[in-house]
Amino acid sequence: MESVTIVDVSPRDGFQSVVPFIPTARKIEIIRGLADAGLRRIEIGSFVSRTALPQMSDIQLLLADLSSRISAELSVLVPNFKGAELAMKAGNENLVIVFSASETHNANNVRKTVDASIVEAKRIIEELKPEGRIRVNIATAFDCPFEGKTPLERVLRLVEQVVPWAGDAEIGLCDTTGRALPVDVAAAFDRCMSLFGRRNWAYHAHDTYGLGTATNWTAYEHGVRIFDASAAGLGGCPFAPGATGNVATEDTVFLFENSGVATGIDLNRLLEVATSVTEIEGGAVGGRVRAAIEARSRLGIRDDSSTKVSANG
Ligand code: COA
Ligand code: ZN
Repeated sequence: MESVTIVDVSPRDGFQSVVPFIPTARKIEIIRGLADAGLRRIEIGSFVSRTALPQMSDIQLLLADLSSRISAELSVLVPNFKGAELAMKAGNENLVIVFSASETHNANNVRKTVDASIVEAKRIIEELKPEGRIRVNIATAFDCPFEGKTPLERVLRLVEQVVPWAGDAEIGLCDTTGRALPVDVAAAFDRCMSLFGRRNWAYHAHDTYGLGTATNWTAYEHGVRIFDASAAGLGGCPFAPGATGNVATEDTVFLFENSGVATGIDLNRLLEVATSVTEIEGGAVGGRVRAAIEARSRLGIRDDSSTKVSANG
């Protein structure tokens, strides 16, 4: 079966939800741990307003410390042109550009209309010409905390606007509230693939209703090979009331590896990092696999090699 790429977004989507400032050294330790566990891509923070998200204010320090000394590819979220300029000035061109499918969420999140955000996203690509890996993330692609279910036709119209200038950028559909059902994810990616082809689609699940692994699998079956996830399921969007963190990275690794889909990640090492993430003061965590494997190991049952658990075990 074709392998997948998992992007750990806990240092961005996870940390941004934590109020007490996480010391920069602690962030670095976690990001390094993720890379050591085999994560090849990590979204380490964002270039955003310090007043909007003080937790992200040390992004320059993180980049300065990590860029040249880590095996993983590091990306940063940029909500607008200014953020992209700052990121590139700081030497990082792997940009995650984000706008929402719903007007209310976009206004709350980045204080713009959706159209204005798309114009700005296009300007980032065309004027700044970043040379790294680009992701264009469409938040609230399935559901909006303020407006309810997002019509698929609306998302398709937005994708249609992005494709002409996106080049080989990844396009991510984000389930910001965690309310997408497998049937929604199947429909969305089926339509995307048939209208716009098998390009670099990505899926970004939140686990608010416990559906993150289910929808991850559906996305895989419908052609997606790039998945965002957060170690220990840390998170909860400060701009999406009620939503919890992303699907846990360890749950995602467990799902894929045991289904015969390689992730390149060592689950045991990842579990150590995820456990340390649970100790972050003020953090809300999720995920099931950590507790399940811990319980088995208390009984002396070892989940052999990280990832391979016997199919009938
Ligand atoms: N990074 C850092 N500073 C930024 C910035 C960015 N990306 N964009 C704008 N600013 C600064 C401006 O320079 C200005 O500073 P000044 O007052 O010293 O001149 C100030 O912020 C206000 O600028 P403005 O363009 O009016 O921005 P805003 O107040 O409308 O805020 C955002 C827009 C996008 C910067 C802000 O809403 C934000 O950071 N949101 C966070 C989005 C996010 O990360 N959400 C979670 C991920 S989906
Ligand atoms: Zn998210």
